[in-house]
Amino acid sequence: MNEAYLHPGAALRRLKTDVFGCVDLCNTGTAGDAPAVRRDTTAARWWARWLAVWLASREARALRALEGVAGVPRLLAWRDGVLLRTWIEGRPMQEARPADARYFRAARRLLRTLHRRGVAHNDLAKEPNWLVTAQGLPALVDYQLATVRRRPGRLFRSLAREDLRHLLKHKRTYCPDRLTPTDRQLLARRSWFSRVWIRAGKPVYLWVTRRWLGWADREGAGDRQL
Ligand SMILES: Nc1ncnc2c1ncn2[C@@H]1O[C@H](COP(=O)(O)OP(=O)(O)O)[C@@H](O)[C@H]1O
Ligand SMILES: [Mg+2]
Repeated sequence: MNEAYLHPGAALRRLKTDVFGCVDLCNTGTAGDAPAVRRDTTAARWWARWLAVWLASREARALRALEGVAGVPRLLAWRDGVLLRTWIEGRPMQEARPADARYFRAARRLLRTLHRRGVAHNDLAKEPNWLVTAQGLPALVDYQLATVRRRPGRLFRSLAREDLRHLLKHKRTYCPDRLTPTDRQLLARRSWFSRVWIRAGKPVYLWVTRRWLGWADREGAGDRQL
């Protein structure tokens, strides 16, 4: 891999644009190299740049902690405001609509692996962050909000449970017949973190992301203009 990925000319397809910059599918610059995904915070609005860099650095940290996990992009580089990670061939959940119990079993295993490595994803309500690969298996992208802990405490366990609850909500949407009694119990039991979030955090988050940043409910599903 050479430095070509740093230049916008290497972009093959725009995956997303918002105030935090853009995400492109691009060439890594070496013949025969697989395409990669470039998050470019230098394209962020000037007032959002510091936040974009902080979010991308969180993603770099989480991807380092998850090195070698199947279904998670590999970090290729994080330098000069540009984060490069491997491309995983697949379709976002809202498009692929996985109705297969195998997908959800594998997704649960994937979440268990993340949590054992000390990473809670924290952004799994968004279907575009879930991919369905060509083999019908799950992959997870977008680790900007992830929490990385060496020694998981009470908060981490709550976040991990929220990750799982979001997965079960997707299962309820796409594969409701295969919800087990345990799944239903987990869905019904809201953690203290979730209760606080729904009352206090979520209204602010929705106001900021919809009114201020212009995100739609299924953000990331396609390209958006600034
Ligand atoms: N490594 C990847 N492999 C396949 N698709 C990806 C990959 N990274 C991102 N995408 C696609 O690009 C979209 C935007 O990337 P994402 O990291 O989620 O950006 P944002 O943090 O701005 O939401 C994703 O929702 C996904 O559909
Ligand atoms: Mg995303």
